[in-house]
Amino acid sequence: MCGIIGYIGEKPALNILVEGLGRMEYRGYDSAGVAFFENDNLKTVKAQGRLSNLVAKLGDIIDGDIHLGIGHTRWATHGEPSDRNSHPHSSNKISVVHNGIIENFVELRKILIADGYKFISDTDTEVVAHLIDKYYTKTTDMFEALKTVVSVLNGSYALAIICHNENDRIYAIRKESPLLIGKGEDENFIASDMTALLKYTKEYYLLEKDEIAVVCGDKVEIYDLDRQLIDRELKVADWDADSAEKGGFKHFMLKEIYDTPSVLNNVFNKYIVEDHIVFDDAEKFNEILRKTKRIVVVACGSANYVGVTAKYMIESLCGVEVSVEAASEFRYRNPVMSEGDLVVAISQSGETADTLAAMRLAKNRGFPVLAIVNVLGSSVAREADIMIYTGAGPEISVATTKAFSAQLANIHLLSLQLAFIKGYISERELAKRLAQLKGVPEVVQKILDDTSSCEVCAKELYEAKDIFFIGRGIDSALSLEGSLKLKEISYIHSEAFSAGELKHGPISLIDEVTPTVAISTQSYLAEKLASNVNEVCSRQGKVWTICKKADRKLFEGISSVIELPDYDEMFLPIPTIIPLQLIAYYVALYKGCDIDKPRNLAKSVTVE
Ligand code: G6P
Repeated sequence: MCGIIGYIGEKPALNILVEGLGRMEYRGYDSAGVAFFENDNLKTVKAQGRLSNLVAKLGDIIDGDIHLGIGHTRWATHGEPSDRNSHPHSSNKISVVHNGIIENFVELRKILIADGYKFISDTDTEVVAHLIDKYYTKTTDMFEALKTVVSVLNGSYALAIICHNENDRIYAIRKESPLLIGKGEDENFIASDMTALLKYTKEYYLLEKDEIAVVCGDKVEIYDLDRQLIDRELKVADWDADSAEKGGFKHFMLKEIYDTPSVLNNVFNKYIVEDHIVFDDAEKFNEILRKTKRIVVVACGSANYVGVTAKYMIESLCGVEVSVEAASEFRYRNPVMSEGDLVVAISQSGETADTLAAMRLAKNRGFPVLAIVNVLGSSVAREADIMIYTGAGPEISVATTKAFSAQLANIHLLSLQLAFIKGYISERELAKRLAQLKGVPEVVQKILDDTSSCEVCAKELYEAKDIFFIGRGIDSALSLEGSLKLKEISYIHSEAFSAGELKHGPISLIDEVTPTVAISTQSYLAEKLASNVNEVCSRQGKVWTICKKADRKLFEGISSVIELPDYDEMFLPIPTIIPLQLIAYYVALYKGCDIDKPRNLAKSVTVE
């Protein structure tokens, strides 16, 4: 949610800033802007809308002799998307880009107006620029100014600041919102996330809460608020630059769906060692699982639906209760928790504000937290007691696909390990099931090799106004994600119901122009689902059913069919999600939607 970037070095800075902003557009794309030094003058260029508008405004200057700058891509929180509300915001000789929300900006604004500052935007961020200017003017010491600013700001922020009087450096400071500093050869960077920098460097420092970084071309210094220099470990990203490229696909979303088999293989190669599951910090991990009596999943959006799927997987295999909580609501009640609860925070980005807040609540109450997280070094990853690294690589498309599948793979591993540790399955049984699990990437590949039925389905669906998704058992969990994916990127109203609930109300919405997608992967439920499909047909509703080859006959005649290869039912959730993702993709494609950057959404939601 908003991406910030900074560059200082020998190369043309604007090129690098714009390229990096392009990589972070999934964090928001309401506007983009840059501030930089040109012939010793501090300049700002910003434009509402997509990055291409900014590039057009910059013109030839983009390749110019400019070697220091900061940039921003915005997801509007305060103030409509407009040039005026775009970042960077400036005050005299200071320019600032911000990711986060300043909660006490109204009060600070009043004080600054009384001080004589003039506001030209409706944003919360403009107060930061004026505040820094106010204290810098008093002390001419940027460190002291930033320290004072930190003491008066409430809310979340990562900030990059440049100052005309100190045109050989970028200052960075953070609280809650993520920020890292990329280290190059005679050049350094700052960015909200590593995908922006992979093309230039893999080495980076993480900036922690309440630390101030001074980033020059030849050095990076990180201080605490007492001005003590911190010796921060240099980290190396294990993501390669190619994984953040489209690789010949029309959209990142499609490319990322096709990445699924290799992502799954990575997960299994990392955690399956000689017929056993070995998570990082294995002893501690297993000890926590041994003591676990109940699992409480906290997550948002698609990650929450991974949690709902986990409930079916874990409860049936391990006899351990799983409660799934929308992280955004968890802390607004007084959740009843008891000894033996393990909180599982699932998050692709590891920066979702609500997920972080929910896991912090649990931690403060003394409960252990397991994070299933895709971004190493993210806040969720760092604050959890134990972690499963999702291993999906960088995911650029706003709508999650491969990370969702990788999270499901992590859940399979977690449930098998829990069942093994609790004695629900033997060592032999574990080995047998792991062998089956390792076959899933091949099943997914088979589906990806022929997507024609998904494309035909999408052709039939794309003009619909409403589409319903139904399933029973674990398939009802997957229908939630199928529906979310469709509405996120195609803007078609869609809802998911457990098929058994259909006749308790939603069936009144079925008519000849309201199609339904039914999911049937569990043979013991297939006949019951076929009855529900019949009920929809009787109301003239058109149905597409995703089912196993073995159950095809049950659905032919009453619906069109998308066939899944016959495979161990326990491991069908991942293969099933692939056609659902493809249907959403092709529907959005036929509708001409902006698939990788759907309106109003951001991938990383760092505000509450
Ligand atoms: C946003 C994204 C969703 C994502 C959710 C949780 O709403 O658009 O795709 O599932 O955040 O994000 P996280 O990074 O915590 O998985």
